[in-house]
Amino acid sequence: MKLLVTGAAGFIGSAVARLAVARGHTVISLDALTYAGCLDNLASLDGNPQHVFERADIRDRAALDRILAAHRPDAVMHLAAESHVDRSIDGPGTFIDTNVGGTFTLLEASRAYWQAQGRPDSFRFHHVSTDEVYGTLGQTGRFSEDTPYAPRSPYAASKAASDHLVRAWHETYGLPVVLSNCSNNYGPFQFPEKLVPVVILNALAGLPIPVYGQGLNVRDWLFVEDHAEALLLVLQRGRTGRSYNIGGEAEARNIDLVQRLCAILDRKRPGARPYADQITHVQDRAGHDLRYAIDPARVRDELGWRPACTLDEGLERTVQWYLDNTGWWRALQGRAGVGQRLGTGGQG
Ligand SMILES: NC(=O)c1ccc[n+]([C@@H]2O[C@H](COP(=O)([O-])OP(=O)(O)OC[C@H]3O[C@@H](n4cnc5c(N)ncnc54)[C@H](O)[C@@H]3O)[C@@H](O)[C@H]2O)c1
Repeated sequence: MKLLVTGAAGFIGSAVARLAVARGHTVISLDALTYAGCLDNLASLDGNPQHVFERADIRDRAALDRILAAHRPDAVMHLAAESHVDRSIDGPGTFIDTNVGGTFTLLEASRAYWQAQGRPDSFRFHHVSTDEVYGTLGQTGRFSEDTPYAPRSPYAASKAASDHLVRAWHETYGLPVVLSNCSNNYGPFQFPEKLVPVVILNALAGLPIPVYGQGLNVRDWLFVEDHAEALLLVLQRGRTGRSYNIGGEAEARNIDLVQRLCAILDRKRPGARPYADQITHVQDRAGHDLRYAIDPARVRDELGWRPACTLDEGLERTVQWYLDNTGWWRALQGRAGVGQRLGTGGQG
């Protein structure tokens, strides 16, 4: 297949692009290269005839029309987004512009392209979203695809709105869409403002390792390469108009995850003191959801997908990747906001 992947210079988008090319697909990587975009994430595809990069903004209709007409993809996989909850608290406007407005523009461009092709049933618009649209859980229960939407942060609300747009374009115009809502991803190439890389890099730098509040928030951790596999499966075999929840079957409290990362670093890069001594509890994020957990029954039973990587294996591989790729993350540490405490804007 020929795939147009938006947000392909980001963390998950680049994993999808690398896997899709490895599987024999042709990929057109589209990305605006915001502060979170990094062309180095696609360096392994440089010179590959199955890969093309297009710098474009999903809010730019003319650019989207040009790229769709020039490359004639069989499917659009939509991952471009503002993705950091803390930034959405300080500055929600960009999240509405990109995640809602940009998704609208991409839907309209895709619809026009699909109609011009004669409305083929085989076309797919795959929207990649988050479990945060469902809000927060107590100590028990899991999110299914039927859980009512109850987003609680500007980021989650913008993703929920984009999910609604995608479903509406299917119901109203017949655009063949599939959606997926995943849990927290981790792995190689994750931008150094998210929890896992922050822990690793602050530990190595001898800096405080920040843990929000008591660190009791529970997340369901999904290794990014497992997620990329699931996304290709949903794209190719998912039922049109349907959404699929994708989780790692690996729930952990933030404080326990941080301790596990410190223990791996103690083994791989021993310091004078255990890295866990650097853990520092900081003021909690405003509206910090207590627990997310995915019920993966649909993607497992309909598509036969399960995560291949356990949390222990995934964390081990991730730590090793950051140890082996210092040049990659050092180049990103000068970017705006990286290394600073963000997301306190809601608490003023
Ligand atoms: N990382 C996670 O744990 C997670 C969990 C659930 C859902 N998601 C979703 O998966 C998708 C990818 O997330 P990620 O973690 O890879 O994010 P990321 O921030 O690493 O990458 C996002 C990419 O989108 C690009 N982008 C941003 N605005 C754009 C615009 N207007 N036009 C074109 N490109 C633009 C950025 O340059 C960047 O390369 C997002 O839609 C996100 O909401 C992520």
